[in-house]
Amino acid sequence: MEFKEVIGRRRSIRFFDPDRPVEREKIQKMLEAARLASCAVNAQWARAIVGFRDELSEDQLKRLKTPVATLNVDMAPVHIHFFNDLSIVNKMQGTRLKELVDVGALAPTHGWSHKFVDDFVYPQILKPMTQGPGYPIASTFDVGIAVCQALLTGVDEGLGVGLVTLNGAVLKEVFKTPDEWIPLPTILVGYPAESWDGGGQRPRPPFEELYFEGEFGKPFKRDEKVVEELKSAKMIQEPAKPNDPKRIEEIKKLAEKYGLPM
Ligand SMILES: Cc1cc2nc3c(=O)[nH]c(=O)nc-3n(C[C@H](O)[C@H](O)[C@H](O)COP(=O)(O)O)c2cc1C
Repeated sequence: MEFKEVIGRRRSIRFFDPDRPVEREKIQKMLEAARLASCAVNAQWARAIVGFRDELSEDQLKRLKTPVATLNVDMAPVHIHFFNDLSIVNKMQGTRLKELVDVGALAPTHGWSHKFVDDFVYPQILKPMTQGPGYPIASTFDVGIAVCQALLTGVDEGLGVGLVTLNGAVLKEVFKTPDEWIPLPTILVGYPAESWDGGGQRPRPPFEELYFEGEFGKPFKRDEKVVEELKSAKMIQEPAKPNDPKRIEEIKKLAEKYGLPM
């Protein structure tokens, strides 16, 4: 699939075919994509544990769920749980930056050398960063980028994907994670039981309310020609409509098929 269409087709899928297994290689491709994501100081905070729904006990599955992540968790056969390994910066002590120096990604033209990392970047920037209150937030941003690449790869592979926030304490207990790992959202993976377009692209605030140029308050000028081009490339798609009879009918049919409340 073309890249722009992959972005356009992604929806948070909440009705999965509970009985259709996901090919192992597709899960691997999602993880491979996560690994290639850009990451500040190349630290690589993102960790993931692939959980298979059918390997969890009834009690574990029940305790993992939250009021906003319920039936979708039951329906998805695979759950990719993401974590932020906060320990990595002080374990690596700038080694991953030095790897970037060695391959010429960080060049002497820009002031980079092993000495710069050892004498300045690690002791003056990275180490103090890990001691500040904003460290978990800043590093979680990087995990989000990895998660996004995994999500889009799942879509490209024809899978249904959707993020959920599960009970973090239970995630840590069930998957026996190290103390330094912070639990983050989980990608539910399976084949969609609902139509891939799930009623259309989901509502978003107007472009002009989100993006500015020059200064806050001056909306970035949106060129309708570009919008049209992205519609042709299937990145911008038909938006989901409130009370769409077609979507309501689809949900009713899914409810009947899977014996769900309506
Ligand atoms: C980090 C993150 C956590 C989310 N957690 C949940 C969740 O617990 N339950 C849920 O139903 N949707 C969850 N979502 C999905 C959003 O609600 C979703 O993005 C929103 O419905 C917009 O629709 P779309 O993803 O289909 O474009 C989460 C999304 C993100 C990015």
